[in-house]
Amino acid sequence: MNIKFNKLKPVPLEIHKPVIVQKLNLKSIEERLAAMQKAGFNTFLLDTSNIFLDMLTDSGVNAMSNQQLAAMMLADDAYSGSQSFFKLEKAVQKFFNMEFFLPVHQGRAAEHIIARSFIKPGDILPMNFHFTTTRAHIELAGGTVEELIIDEVFNVTSSHPFKGNIDIKKLEECIARVGAKRIPFIRMEVTTNLTGGQPVSLENLRAVRKVADKHKLMLVIDACLIAENAFFIKQREKEFAHSSIQEIIHEISKLADIIYFSGRKLGAARGGGIVTNNKELFEKMKVLIPLFEGFFTYGGMSIREIEALAVGLGEFTDETVISQMPLFIEHVVNELVSFNVPVVTPAGALGVHLDAKKFLEHVPQTEYPAGALAAALFLISGTRGMERGSISMDRDPKTGKEILSELELLRLAVPRRVFSLSQMSFLIDRIVWLFENRELVGGLKFVDEPKVLRFFGGRLGPVNNWPEKLVKKFKIDFQDSL
Ligand code: F0G
Repeated sequence: MNIKFNKLKPVPLEIHKPVIVQKLNLKSIEERLAAMQKAGFNTFLLDTSNIFLDMLTDSGVNAMSNQQLAAMMLADDAYSGSQSFFKLEKAVQKFFNMEFFLPVHQGRAAEHIIARSFIKPGDILPMNFHFTTTRAHIELAGGTVEELIIDEVFNVTSSHPFKGNIDIKKLEECIARVGAKRIPFIRMEVTTNLTGGQPVSLENLRAVRKVADKHKLMLVIDACLIAENAFFIKQREKEFAHSSIQEIIHEISKLADIIYFSGRKLGAARGGGIVTNNKELFEKMKVLIPLFEGFFTYGGMSIREIEALAVGLGEFTDETVISQMPLFIEHVVNELVSFNVPVVTPAGALGVHLDAKKFLEHVPQTEYPAGALAAALFLISGTRGMERGSISMDRDPKTGKEILSELELLRLAVPRRVFSLSQMSFLIDRIVWLFENRELVGGLKFVDEPKVLRFFGGRLGPVNNWPEKLVKKFKIDFQDSL
């Protein structure tokens, strides 16, 4: 929470206490170099025994509350008609103020069901920005993504409060150009993952709804981070300064035809769902649930997770719970800015996003600066982040050409209720050292490159022997410290 302090510089104050803890390992830099080599310089392939701060993602790794853990013990295991499912259904209906709910095993499963139900070859999907799994499912169904986010998003250091907004003019132009018939729906992601967890304003969502109505188009909202987006709306959009998080979420969901979410993020459990108020749309998607997910009353989720998610959704309307992640991110971003480290501003949700293009100006984009920065930060701190740049873009499926990403970001996710401020101080300190020694970091090249979602399983190697040089300098500067 944001609380006034007397003498000390204010820091985000947690309104919870850890009641179960997990031991971590902080290994030597030599051990981390061996681990990185074994992982093909891809942080996805690291083994958690070698990781100190796991900031790969906020997906499925949030700390559960004691209430969630307790609820898991009450699971009513049944193939069909489980009481646990009805609890979740009620919680989802309350959270979104929507009637019909379909359970799925995680967010991308919802994307698959929606893509299969509504997209046909040749279709165009306008959206603020794509997410990796979203794009893959849309392309698998024969559709093409059109990204229409406001240009301000590419200004990495900006003070624009809603860099996740779609450009309404570009949206109108897109519809005029391709024709409404080829557009199965407009998609809005709140907040936009790949551009730094940037929020969308309610003003913008209302404008999208207007355009959708004018052209009789559906609006689909990806609600993985809807609670954090609502927190930003409360902070940054005057009209909602006195609204509750729940009221803002209802204002958002009122505008959508279909909402889907990953329960690995929203609700701090695992699983996912699709919600709508439209019976016809619901019936169209429902037939696919037993085919790809599981029976209608579990949809591929474990019943224990269903219980945890039902409780978690309630907690995600509590501002003291939902503000923790964005305020920790803001704290780290502000500290990094004070040391001139290039980082995406304003601070968003999901994580801290280092601007690798600026951080490693001397590494050409064809040598993946964001991937190189991810490897270097792991070597010197045991922190695992995620490359969100050109490695995360697959090659053009038609030409096989490399697609260089507009942004080269190293994402350091801040899972909810997990890290302490002392760990964040350690992280800031190590990032600042790396920035001071940035000329020691070189590029990466692919050794083994999968065709689809290459960032998950691809193996790379350093362009020269820069990791050894970095290790040497680290050992001099930190002597025997880890
Ligand atoms: N949509 C968005 C905006 C996401 O951030 C994610 C997942 C998904 C859909 C897919 O959900 O993982 O449950 O299948 N993002 C994770 C991340 C993977 O690390 O940002 P999922």
